[in-house]
Amino acid sequence: MAGLIPQAFIDDLLGRLDIVDVVGSRLSLRRSGDNYLARCPFHDEKTPSFSVTRSKQFYHCFGCGAHGSAIRFMMDYEHLDFPEAVEVLAASLGLDVPREQGAERQAESNRELFTVLEDCVQVYRRALRDYPAAVAYLKERGLSGEIARDFALGYAPEGWETLRDALGTDDQTSLFSAGMLIRNKQGGYYDRFRDRIMFPIRDTRGRAIGFGGRALGEATPKYLNSPESPVFHKRREVYGLYEARQANASRQPLVVVEGYMDVIALHQHGLPNAVATLGTAVTGDQLKRLFRETHELIFCFDGDAAGRRAAWRALESALPLLEDGREARFALIPEGEDPDALVRREGADAFRHRLAQSPPAAEFLLDELKQQTDASTIGGRARLGELARPLIAQLPEGLYAELLTDRLAQEIGGNRSNVRSALRQTADTRRAPRRAPDADSGKPPQRMTPLRLVIALLLNEPRLEPHLSLPDELMQSEAPGLPLLRSLLQYIRSIEGPTAGVLMHRLESHPELPVLVKLANWQPAVSLDRAQLEELFHDAVQSLQRDLYRRCSESLLALAEQRELTDAEKQKLNEVIKKSK
Ligand code: GTP
Ligand code: MN
Repeated sequence: MAGLIPQAFIDDLLGRLDIVDVVGSRLSLRRSGDNYLARCPFHDEKTPSFSVTRSKQFYHCFGCGAHGSAIRFMMDYEHLDFPEAVEVLAASLGLDVPREQGAERQAESNRELFTVLEDCVQVYRRALRDYPAAVAYLKERGLSGEIARDFALGYAPEGWETLRDALGTDDQTSLFSAGMLIRNKQGGYYDRFRDRIMFPIRDTRGRAIGFGGRALGEATPKYLNSPESPVFHKRREVYGLYEARQANASRQPLVVVEGYMDVIALHQHGLPNAVATLGTAVTGDQLKRLFRETHELIFCFDGDAAGRRAAWRALESALPLLEDGREARFALIPEGEDPDALVRREGADAFRHRLAQSPPAAEFLLDELKQQTDASTIGGRARLGELARPLIAQLPEGLYAELLTDRLAQEIGGNRSNVRSALRQTADTRRAPRRAPDADSGKPPQRMTPLRLVIALLLNEPRLEPHLSLPDELMQSEAPGLPLLRSLLQYIRSIEGPTAGVLMHRLESHPELPVLVKLANWQPAVSLDRAQLEELFHDAVQSLQRDLYRRCSESLLALAEQRELTDAEKQKLNEVIKKSK
């Protein structure tokens, strides 16, 4: 049986193909502006409503809603399965589809990286013994020698060629591929990590796959992480999981914290079931991996605004995974504290008690939403229902969804069966089949709001993503459409050198695909060059920003009608009004 086709190959293939050729050799296409039109092969029609766009490498039928990439077209038109469609398309370009052999070669070069990374672990551990200042730092942070050993902590000395000197010159290319060296303009290499405490990041088999490096003093950045490499994927790996397994603790509820130091302090103080992400928001992949170990996760984040946001994002990622028998809890710790400091001060038992008291996902979700709405008014309760609906719709069918529905019905004082049927509607549209007849899916969106424009532009040209600059407070907003924008950004960022074609292909499984397709069909009235596109994008982002601030000021003004605003709120209102102009 042939192995999987590497994603990189599929992306590359989509990048080389021209969908206009692929479709054009099977249907007769007529040029119409920037698009090509044909009679749709997927439904009966007299006037052509099947459109193929070269810039997006995408087809879409305004009649029946069929749409997709060149691969999808081949699958549906030629009745092929996915690998077959890829084979046929690759053959048309004279390419061989890499499979197992590719995987074997990859495995071999990965073995080399594992070896070289392990060598680095040893170099840094030895260096730790030779640099009393580094040891003093760890002591001062309260770490025992034992825990430093269990986590294989080390020290990267100040020089630029520590690794080369320690390991010999032959290793340069593997060291570079492993992310340990940086290449300079002259083609030479130098150490990425200098004068830092080194935290090896290990996979579940205990192999070092990358490092986090912490500055000893106030140097910035405080942490430096290895870049992505063939063996290191930040969004998939979990810090401390190997160590938790070694301590036979991975079947207990796993405690997800934010920092490396938090993990280590918890381990040292008798909570070896602590793990952390690698400095990014927790991802679905990481949660899936954790739920394979245990049925209960406890997110333990700081109680400040950033920690609450992180917890909320974790909740959003966890919801689709909360099958029956699984639970996620949310332990927010007091502002200004972190798990590291807290466990040292109050000890393991008090800390465990805290965790045991933490609210489960359903409660956390409702509490957070209740803080955003006023449950004493009918409007507020309706809003609570609106906010909760899409979240509950993410839950897999089962007891958990039932339970949360009932709790929501209680909160909003609604009739349970009404709440249920409203929820079911949301769930149905989210899980709509790819080609559900969608009467208006072909029409441009009713009104081109700045947010829609931003999304439409990103779908047309994902490389605009780095130009998207919104203040953090707005980026995290729950205003309508913003969650969609955030999720789109995640997709774009997961693609290397994103193109519209590859993006649309990846989005095929997106729960809000119909909306995205609608927006992807938007095109500027005149064709724009790159600079004009950037300018348009920039303007759209600016208006979006003003829009969001306006929304903010409106809700504060509405609040002011109900009660006197606090000084802080008044000041906020002034600020937001200014920014919304
Ligand atoms: P200490 O400050 O030494 O106690 O470390 P910590 O692990 O508690 O870190 P903190 O709570 O400040 O941050 C949590 C995690 O975010 C860290 O463990 C890192 O993974 C990541 N992080 C923090 N600061 C930086 C930074 O400057 N750059 C990067 N890339 N990641 C960071
Ligand atoms: Mn800390």
